[in-house]
Amino acid sequence: MKAFVIGIGGVTNGGKTTLAKNLQKRLPNCSVISQDDFFKPESEIEKDKNGFLQYDVLEALNMDKMMAAISSWMENPGRSLEPTAGSSAEEMPILIIEGFLLFNYKPLDAIWNRSYFLTIPYEECKRRRSTRVYEPPDPPGYFDGHVWPMYLKHRQEMDSVTWEVVYLDGTKSEEDLFSEVYEDLTQKLANQSPSTVLAK
Ligand SMILES: Nc1ncnc2c1ncn2[C@@H]1O[C@H](COP(=O)(O)OP(=O)(O)O)[C@@H](O)[C@H]1O
Ligand SMILES: [Mg+2]
Repeated sequence: MKAFVIGIGGVTNGGKTTLAKNLQKRLPNCSVISQDDFFKPESEIEKDKNGFLQYDVLEALNMDKMMAAISSWMENPGRSLEPTAGSSAEEMPILIIEGFLLFNYKPLDAIWNRSYFLTIPYEECKRRRSTRVYEPPDPPGYFDGHVWPMYLKHRQEMDSVTWEVVYLDGTKSEEDLFSEVYEDLTQKLANQSPSTVLAK
């Protein structure tokens, strides 16, 4: 069976998970895989010379496990991981993969049918991040000493991506972001398969 795979990448707190969930509510036959579910245990995370745990790098993630989850979905794509709105047998299964390090991970390069990347400015990112509670909690100086520099590095690596990535302004409202992406996907899915009709 064919499937349509959507990547939602972007900066920490850019709104990736929120957007993925909003899309899942409205897209038929849609599953979500979140990269955040594949962090290694804290005991396996490297520390830098300042004692900062190196969480915002590919090495902090069990990417083999994430790839296995994707492969497993692909083997039986009609079966949603969670209940989803208005699914029916004819609709092409959709998989949304959302996370902060997707388009830098070569083994996934060939999988994307459509790629989005959420950005927000430094100040807004720092503000949103400070309101979230992480496990382990961000120590003082972590955002400027690890999170943001790693983001800038990954963002730069994306300049060499060979396929189209649609950049999204994460400071727009949740509703506006949803509509922008939903409309874009409606077009893409219609081109992909004339029989695919999205839920109203
Ligand atoms: N479009 C938006 N505008 C303002 N705040 C948002 C928006 N989308 C998400 N948020 C908020 O930003 C924070 C991070 O959102 P989340 O979707 O978890 O981001 P990510 O998965 O990219 O880390 C949450 O507090 C969420 O409520
Ligand atoms: Mg998230």
